[in-house]
Amino acid sequence: MEYAIDVRGLSKSFQGNEVVKGINLRVKKGELFALLGPNGAGKTTTINMLTTLLKADGGTAVVAGYDVENQAGDVRKRISLTGQFAALDEGLTGLQNLEMVAKLSGCPSRDARSISEDSIRSFGLWEAKDRTVGHYSGGMRRRLDIAASIVTQPELIFLDEPTTGLDPQSRIQVWEVVRMLLGIGTTVVLTTQYLEEADQLADRIAVIDQGRIIAEGTPTQLKASIGGKTLSIQLSEPVELERITELLVDSPLEVYQDDNSLVYKMAVQEAKLANETVHRLLSNDIPVEYFTLGEPSLDEVFLTLTHSKTKEAAS
Ligand SMILES: Nc1ncnc2c1ncn2[C@@H]1O[C@H](COP(=O)(O)OP(=O)(O)OP(=O)(O)O)[C@@H](O)[C@H]1O
Ligand SMILES: [Mg+2]
Repeated sequence: MEYAIDVRGLSKSFQGNEVVKGINLRVKKGELFALLGPNGAGKTTTINMLTTLLKADGGTAVVAGYDVENQAGDVRKRISLTGQFAALDEGLTGLQNLEMVAKLSGCPSRDARSISEDSIRSFGLWEAKDRTVGHYSGGMRRRLDIAASIVTQPELIFLDEPTTGLDPQSRIQVWEVVRMLLGIGTTVVLTTQYLEEADQLADRIAVIDQGRIIAEGTPTQLKASIGGKTLSIQLSEPVELERITELLVDSPLEVYQDDNSLVYKMAVQEAKLANETVHRLLSNDIPVEYFTLGEPSLDEVFLTLTHSKTKEAAS
């Protein structure tokens, strides 16, 4: 199978500090691939190498069939990048921004206008097309930025944190736009700090932490691998972690303390186990104030993944 992206052993250091540590990735044509990781994990650095903005120190990357190092020009013709910080002209209107991008990419003036009009309409910004971008909301900017990235009809689109800093409503609108890209057959690589976003959009996810891919799979595989839901237990007064772990010594749960010392968390596979755990704590006079059973946050995914790595290494 020919991949849209095939990366082997890619690495990058800044001032002797290795921030991308030999990653391998394969993205299939037409899929949405999410690179999920916290601040500083190496997402933007990786994207910048794949989009030829940054030279790798080691490894190879073939993007849209071309080598990023030796055939950078061929790669650039086939891709577009929407960066972490929007690259729009604040003084121009939404429509003028798109027209400018279209013309810069070699489109004749008359076509540039009609392509831009079609595009701004399909991204739900028709009403705002004659307003200057300086007056757009964060969500509108993001959508316009993505609209600009497809004016040139790339095979492959990179979106670096397309929804960071947006309110939930705008985030959903950006998701709709991303789904549209997939609908027209574009391969999409996006980076995100949000498990929920990767879960909503991605066919496959790679979790990156400190420059390494620590897990990879479909959203379902990934969530199954870290084990279902998170049980959070809030106490009304502090209790030693040892006391809690002692009480649960025969339980398969790994208990850890949140930043807030009154909150204990554990990944649980089934509601029954969550119920038994809460019951056991209460019947041993642990001052449980309340408890919730919810989706794991990205932090919890990382904790679980890095924890199981440590255990693997130790065994
Ligand atoms: N030009 C640079 N010079 C020195 N260090 C850099 C440079 N660019 C990135 N770094 C460092 O490399 C690491 C990875 O940064 P990167 O921007 O790739 O992370 P990220 O996953 O995109 O994070 P964020 O979610 O905050 O955007 C960080 O520790 C960062 O400080
Ligand atoms: Mg980044």
